Amino acid sequence: MIISAEKAVAAASAPIRFLREPLSFLDNLAAQGDVVPFSMLRTKALFVNRPDAIRRVLMDTKGYVKEDPFWRAMRALLGDGVTTTDGSIWAKQRRPIQRVFDAHSYEWSVPLIGDLTHQMLDEWEERGPTAVLDVGEHVRALNLRIGARIISGTEDASSGSFGKAFEIWHQSAADFAKFPFPPLNWPTPRRRKVRAAQKAMDASLFSLLVERLQRPQEQATGVDVLSQLLASGDKAIAATPSVFRDNLMGLRLGTYENQSAALTWLWYWVTRNPEIFGRMAEEARAVFRGREVRAEDFHGLTYTTAVVRETLRICPTIWVLMRQAARFDEIDGHRVTPGTLMLMSPYTIHRDARYWPEPERFDPERWLRKKPEHDGVSYIPFGAGPHVCLAGNFAIQQLVVIAATMASRFDITAASSRPAGLHPIISMRPDRPITVHARSRDAA
Ligand code: HEM
Repeated sequence: MIISAEKAVAAASAPIRFLREPLSFLDNLAAQGDVVPFSMLRTKALFVNRPDAIRRVLMDTKGYVKEDPFWRAMRALLGDGVTTTDGSIWAKQRRPIQRVFDAHSYEWSVPLIGDLTHQMLDEWEERGPTAVLDVGEHVRALNLRIGARIISGTEDASSGSFGKAFEIWHQSAADFAKFPFPPLNWPTPRRRKVRAAQKAMDASLFSLLVERLQRPQEQATGVDVLSQLLASGDKAIAATPSVFRDNLMGLRLGTYENQSAALTWLWYWVTRNPEIFGRMAEEARAVFRGREVRAEDFHGLTYTTAVVRETLRICPTIWVLMRQAARFDEIDGHRVTPGTLMLMSPYTIHRDARYWPEPERFDPERWLRKKPEHDGVSYIPFGAGPHVCLAGNFAIQQLVVIAATMASRFDITAASSRPAGLHPIISMRPDRPITVHARSRDAA
């Protein structure tokens, strides 16, 4: 086969463009069509950007597997927990974790989340109304505490070091996941950095695990995810300490990174639209009526839920989904051969005007109007199919409770009117700190 010089250059430059400017690379593919073949060096790749085709790939866990370079890199970094695996290893782990998650993390966690949020706000109160607060920094600290309590049942002394190590790990891991050469075990300064951060996170999780195994009584009564998993005695999960570690790591990262990025974006959009903040604050005050937060409050916070959903539409924190074809298929007349890299993007599909009118507009109202008629897969902040985020509902509830608690106590306004750009690392964060002023209503 003769490849034109133009095509050869495009194939060679695709990984570099994806590495350097991933979002404009994806925009470019989306502009070319719904299903676009391209090459990543010598690997055939297919960009899929239509709801039914995305659904087809994500539903078929045998035909499309997590064997692409991204997931292989994530396994090197995170181990073989439910987040990173596929097939029977994945299924054995997903079932017990999903069960524990669904049964135990909703009701009891709401007052806890409300309480920890109030503690963060007490600190804001002390800082006063003129202080410039970096929302991202504050919500990351908050989510670190929430994750420690909900997943591990304790705010272990190492929470802070876990967060610091994670910040270093996140940036280096993103570079590695995008371009996994040289391998992780090479003695280069960058690889040393990611390994050191990982070691610190591991140490934190292993010491927690050892401590919990020494207190079997608490396992039986504890409501946190770790206690419940230990108490369930599930063989797949209890197989070895490293299986526990791999899963704890995935769950802690889930609660920490995605939740924090989503909340940071929420406050970016809400402070740019004071009328939206006004409605949120009014709703939160009417629902909470000055008392502590309760589980049933979530159902009354419909406008705030719309704000959270809209935030995850316009700024999906997971901005790309990858799989590798494991067998022959055909999508829209494009032949898929085993080994083809499949690329799908919540970012491009969420900003497609065919499914989302005025996609660049932050409009929570769209969630309160009639449900869109098109396939549900045009909204995929939590993925879709059997690998859909196992904590999606929990994540929404948690974000709603935190945002409403914040809005109920403070008038929160932007400290900078400068637009923020999208900064895709592993999750997509704003490219600058989102700073706010917070004026306590009690002080008014
Ligand atoms: C705003 C918050 C969150 C977002 C946007 C999010 C997004 C996602 C997405 C897109 C996937 C699917 C990845 C794929 O199919 O390639 C996923 C999977 C997963 N998420 Fe989340 N997530 C969030 C919060 C959480 C939380 C709080 C946890 C745990 C406590 C969590 C745990 C997981 C796990 C374990 C998986 C793997 C599921 C599987 O493969 O079976 N996530 N998440």
